[in-house]
Amino acid sequence: MTKLEKLVGWIDDRFPLTSTWKAHLSEYYAPKNFNFWYFFGSLALLVLVIQIVTGIFLVMNYKPDAALAFASVEYIMRDVPFGWLIRYMHSTGASAFFIVVYLHMMRGLMYGSYRKPRELIWIFGMCIYLALMAEAFMGYLLPWGQMSYWGAQVIVNLFSAVPFVGEELSIWIRGDFVISDATLNRFFSFHVIAVPLVLLGLIVAHIIALHEVGSNNPDGVEIKKHKDANGIPLDGIPFHPYYTVKDIVGVIVFLMVFSAVVFFAPTMGGYFLEDNNFIPADPFKTPPHIAPVWYFTPFYAILRAVPPMFGSQFPGVIAMGVAVVILFFLPWLDQGKVKSIRYRGAIYKTWLTLFVISFVGLGWLGIQPATPTYTLMARILSGVYFAFFFLMPWYTKIDKTKPEPDRVTG
Ligand code: HEM
Repeated sequence: MTKLEKLVGWIDDRFPLTSTWKAHLSEYYAPKNFNFWYFFGSLALLVLVIQIVTGIFLVMNYKPDAALAFASVEYIMRDVPFGWLIRYMHSTGASAFFIVVYLHMMRGLMYGSYRKPRELIWIFGMCIYLALMAEAFMGYLLPWGQMSYWGAQVIVNLFSAVPFVGEELSIWIRGDFVISDATLNRFFSFHVIAVPLVLLGLIVAHIIALHEVGSNNPDGVEIKKHKDANGIPLDGIPFHPYYTVKDIVGVIVFLMVFSAVVFFAPTMGGYFLEDNNFIPADPFKTPPHIAPVWYFTPFYAILRAVPPMFGSQFPGVIAMGVAVVILFFLPWLDQGKVKSIRYRGAIYKTWLTLFVISFVGLGWLGIQPATPTYTLMARILSGVYFAFFFLMPWYTKIDKTKPEPDRVTG
């Protein structure tokens, strides 16, 4: 017995090291037919680590004070050694997080990964998505630029549209009558510790739920139905080393694209860091166009598409909320006989395509000024967006599906 084996044995007598390694990696059997869509879960974990590490270093020099915040970010950019790199990694990481998570969710839609028995994986995923939106929204206030300030002003003001309690609610959230130092302090506290803790807990729950039922795959068939004499799925391969090695390919490609953005286009033409945010916050000067960062714009377009009722924006706020919350119900809205897009019929494929067009289209419209033509387009696309979900129980039932294979096809 080598010294290392002895040490591992000593630990195993006191802590489930080898058994955990086996259960979650070397003897966790994943379907052998994963394609590139399965990179995005591990990439989301990578971005999470990037955000936490760069965040820790940012906090060392950032000042959560309305009088000092903007200058402290400039100090990080100009004077702190490699501060520019840390800040651009963190700001690019925020957008990368949403790109990766949107693709990760898209995979779920394509292969029916949210369906029985994976409903809880999906629900934890949706909670992660909500937490991620809160995290990004509050983080964006911290540089205390014009967009930080006015973006937060617009969004927090939405709460004042809630009947009866709205005004008090928005004051309670801000800690003041307008966005101010008190707001900055609480957003800092939430961004740096409260939401990340929730996010971490949810991610652990997400993966525990995944490992309880096992991964879905591009064929949408359950590999646990066919096992060998040792109880190992015939179409399964150990996660480690096969998928750890495969995931490294995704990591390398991701880091190449990520570095290209960080080093050559950190603002991404105003999409990742808006131009107006290089101007310090001025409570007396509203910028002409206030638009949220790209990852919120589909929902912002839905908000603006709904006309106010009795002068209140409340209906738009409700529509925006429903647009997000409806995703929680996907496992029960989908009544299809098969899970994967490979065996679905033309009706589902058409609806999924329309949904993607509506989401991307709304995202684009959310950045544009609300002219009558754009508003009309946003109304049509919002209709398509909601129809995808509300009509789903019906069209998935009548869709002519192909027979699902018994085993994975490779
Ligand atoms: C920080 C964000 C997230 C992290 C770190 C994360 C992590 C992971 C990992 C590592 C996997 C296994 C590998 C893979 O299948 O790609 C996975 C699977 C899954 N995730 Fe996430 N996830 C996140 C967000 C989400 C969100 C927002 C949703 C949906 C609302 C979601 C839904 C799913 C589903 C349904 C599966 C199972 C997929 C299958 O087996 O086909 N995840 N996640």
